[in-house]
Amino acid sequence: MRKPVIAGNWKMNKTKLESIKLVTELKNLLPRTVAADIIVAPPFTALTYVFEAISGSSIALAAQNCHWEDSGAYTGEVSPPMLKDLGCRYVILGHSERRQYFGETDSSVNKKLKAVLRSELIPIICVGESLEERKKRETFSIVEGQIKRGLASLTSTEFNEIIIAYEPIWAIGTGETATPAQAQEVHQLIRKVLGELFGGRNAAEIRIQYGGSVKADNVAELMAQEDIDGALVGGASLEARSFAEIIRFKSGD
Ligand code: 13P
Repeated sequence: MRKPVIAGNWKMNKTKLESIKLVTELKNLLPRTVAADIIVAPPFTALTYVFEAISGSSIALAAQNCHWEDSGAYTGEVSPPMLKDLGCRYVILGHSERRQYFGETDSSVNKKLKAVLRSELIPIICVGESLEERKKRETFSIVEGQIKRGLASLTSTEFNEIIIAYEPIWAIGTGETATPAQAQEVHQLIRKVLGELFGGRNAAEIRIQYGGSVKADNVAELMAQEDIDGALVGGASLEARSFAEIIRFKSGD
């Protein structure tokens, strides 16, 4: 049974005080027990403050990126041990915005993945196709390639520690969500590819999040799909009430 995992990617938003306010509001809105793992990924500058604010709650901390070395002459970069030191438990890797604007490739994702695992952090590896690629019916080959190259030479033991996020680029920040059927189709493919690489039993345990315009009013039908195990939320995680509603996607929680 895969436990749902709902993460809020704040991207380049929120100052120190805004971050503390947002996460404190979120904490106060959440029920005592939640049937999902809850993660927030503030910018680097707010990690320490958010970590303090979530203490004693069920919210865990993620970073949005990292370097692949533990330390060294890499001006402007932040390493996995530094993130661990600040209280991070997860690191988002290979987000399409990093691929699009900052030259992230499957090969750099792979190096970062190894570094993150070395520091005993949990990587959330993002994959997804562009609108052009979808129109050309290349979605499966693009996503399959990202998975195979991004996870290259990972051992089965390491594999069990990871989370995958499928984020179709055309659905990010556009208000256009993949239909549950469109998302499920790709999630199923991802699980099949993971099964070929790491064995069916291992692949059945891995959590695959969907990301791209997830909102309170579409999360339940997405989460109802067999291979969708969570959400990676951008815009709607910047407001405590809307993110809390997404977290409570199951009535009764
Ligand atoms: P939106 O929810 O704003 O579409 O962003 C999705 C995303 O990129 C999360 O990483």
